[in-house]
Amino acid sequence: MTAATSIRNLFVTTALPYANGKFHIGHMMEYIQADIWVRFQRMRGHNVHWVCADDTHGAPIMIAAEKAGKSPQDFVAEIAAGRKRYLDGFHLSVDHWHTTDSPENVVLAQDIYKKLKAAGFVSTKTIEQFYDPVKGMFLPDRYIKGECPKCGTKDQYGDSCENCGAVYAPTDLKNPYSTLSGATPEMRSSEHFFFKLSDPKCVDFLREWTTSKDRHGVPRLQSEIIAKSKEWLGEDGKMGDWDISRDAPYFGIPIPDAPGKFFYVWLDAPVGYLAALKSYFDVGKAKANGESRSFDEFMAAADTEQIHFIGKDITYFHVLFWPAMLKFAGYKTPDSVNVHGFIQMGGEKMSKSRGTGVDPLKYLELGMNPEWMRYYIAAKLNANVEDFDFTAEDFMARVNSDLIGKFVNIASRTAGFLHKHFDGKLGDTSALAAAFPGAIATSHTEEIARLYESREFGKALRRLMEMADAVNGYYDTSKPWELAKLAAAGDSAARSTLHSVCSNVMESFRLLSIMLAPVLPNLSTRAFEFLSLPIQRWVDVTSALREGHSIHAYQHLMSRVEEKQLDALLGVVAEAADAKKSEKSTKPEAAQNGASKGNTSAKAAVSGAQASATVTASDNAVIGIDDFAKVDLRIAKIVNAEHVEGSDKLLRLTLDVGEVDADGNQKLRNVFSGIKSAYSPESLIGQLTVVVANLAPRKMKFGVSEGMVLAASGKGEHNSDGLFLLNPHAGAQPGMKVS
Ligand code: MSP
Ligand code: ZN
Repeated sequence: MTAATSIRNLFVTTALPYANGKFHIGHMMEYIQADIWVRFQRMRGHNVHWVCADDTHGAPIMIAAEKAGKSPQDFVAEIAAGRKRYLDGFHLSVDHWHTTDSPENVVLAQDIYKKLKAAGFVSTKTIEQFYDPVKGMFLPDRYIKGECPKCGTKDQYGDSCENCGAVYAPTDLKNPYSTLSGATPEMRSSEHFFFKLSDPKCVDFLREWTTSKDRHGVPRLQSEIIAKSKEWLGEDGKMGDWDISRDAPYFGIPIPDAPGKFFYVWLDAPVGYLAALKSYFDVGKAKANGESRSFDEFMAAADTEQIHFIGKDITYFHVLFWPAMLKFAGYKTPDSVNVHGFIQMGGEKMSKSRGTGVDPLKYLELGMNPEWMRYYIAAKLNANVEDFDFTAEDFMARVNSDLIGKFVNIASRTAGFLHKHFDGKLGDTSALAAAFPGAIATSHTEEIARLYESREFGKALRRLMEMADAVNGYYDTSKPWELAKLAAAGDSAARSTLHSVCSNVMESFRLLSIMLAPVLPNLSTRAFEFLSLPIQRWVDVTSALREGHSIHAYQHLMSRVEEKQLDALLGVVAEAADAKKSEKSTKPEAAQNGASKGNTSAKAAVSGAQASATVTASDNAVIGIDDFAKVDLRIAKIVNAEHVEGSDKLLRLTLDVGEVDADGNQKLRNVFSGIKSAYSPESLIGQLTVVVANLAPRKMKFGVSEGMVLAASGKGEHNSDGLFLLNPHAGAQPGMKVS
């Protein structure tokens, strides 16, 4: 759908975060994705109501609250109180934030349950489960540990053994114990309530719902998700009934007419979407957003579209349980569920349990620009269910080279000419589309709209940067600085060309600012202020700036991100990395680095995303290819080698690394290497080896060392002793890159 033919009424949600922890960057990624889409829809003139809430119920939160000595209500309230800083900080335009521990949710969840029951979709069954006699509660599997039934390793969880990899049920554990009390759990039976997903009506409905299209003719699920749900629904009997009850004590919503029974958290959590929307209507915020209907009227309206944004790990709940619950309770079913992959760091999921990665609050506290992050994440997102890696290099490149280098600079380089020569007034830009190859035309703005609509944000930004490239190319080939000189000397043709070039460039900047506004709301607003325009809506791409329109003097719009900011964010500490290295290393570079005297400058090789892991993880920590790429390895020819007076470890090497100085003369490097015990200087002269060429120079007692040669060394049971300089195969030349 490209043209805003009729006004859409959109009810949008993002997954409700568990209220037992702070936000991590994965949460922010999801909200940023939804926010970009929502802002785009609003710019198109559609009505959007985006709500979210804390997901508060369940055993883990109940237990965490107890450990913290708080009531679950107080515990989740504290978490909830911290949300606003993140939401405001990253310009997330969510309309209402609610909680699943709310009266609205009790009413809605119980109503859905009652209707499911009345329609014959609830059954009961008595099941056997571990029970903690000390805590007086049934134990979820994650709170049971014991000895592996296969290899006997102690303290293993109830699903699999960390030692031998055996997979089993919690009841198979030997000497099981409750991790809550240490008590030996007993088997006890209890009656549970089940949602009859296996009912053929249910399976038929889901087969249809998962594979059908929304009202715009777009599949309501992505192709990967359709394939997954086919798998889940495919084999007969695979859809088991869903256990929706838990026994007291449980922090949750009571099941009507069933004393001591509560809804399992995943039953009431998605109902929380509706509860949040209801609260949003009831407190008058919907009205303030131009919606005059009541919650019930809005949900009953045929044109209300219900759109969920979620991460891939909770797909099952959202494409099977949730639509089926709604359907058979007689509620409106979702129009689409948009599933995203995970943001990772070095291939690892970023999550609170691991505590790795980019802390969004720290990001804000360091004063880093939230729109850098929005831009970066947008650039990595597409409409598929794909993970992506956060890397510091990539972040810097996108922000500094693309966002600032290509887009922001357009305004800064042009404004001066307009003010100096034309009093800040624009010329005619009505012929912009034909002014230069690649100039922004209607086909471009329509393409970008389509890409936003279909959540292809990375592609949209790539296309926008190509447009920015074309604008910059036009500016460069037009040489406004030369035109300005000619104009100043009285050349009126040059003056008119100058005016037209700068006006076309500025109008292009306006169009780009509009099209970037969903991603960069703050920057765009400031750009419109600079252009002396009201906040632009999408439709404004179809009209050009008026001839004679005055713009303000250019004001700085955005700074570049600095490496040291990313270092601070990621906890890269050069000193710590160094200390560790000196402590542990038995390799020749330790000697070369001055052995252990707490050097502080060896940052180059370890800066960036993975360095925090380098500091804390084992020597064998996994790094990504980007980390490896930071190390500039080169072939070096040892043109001279000699003893170092006063050192019994070091040799002084003179290396040819294929470098020349500014005058074209060969430049040699001086490197100290702790290989004296293994090599005589004479034996090394003329040999080729490998050098780390981008290691920061290091001042040592004997002089400055400008690199590090690589050697193998061994100690201990598996390695034989010794020291062996690396030597490339014949044919390698000094200066060649090793990768
Ligand atoms: N409480 C449930 C959702 C209930 S929805 C009715 C939950 N909460 S969560 O806090 O664990 O996750 C919230 C959202 O963040 C989910 O959509 C999840 O997929 C997403 N993400 C968690 N880690 C993520 C990344 N590393 N990257 C992107 N999204 C991630 O699940
Ligand atoms: Zn085992």
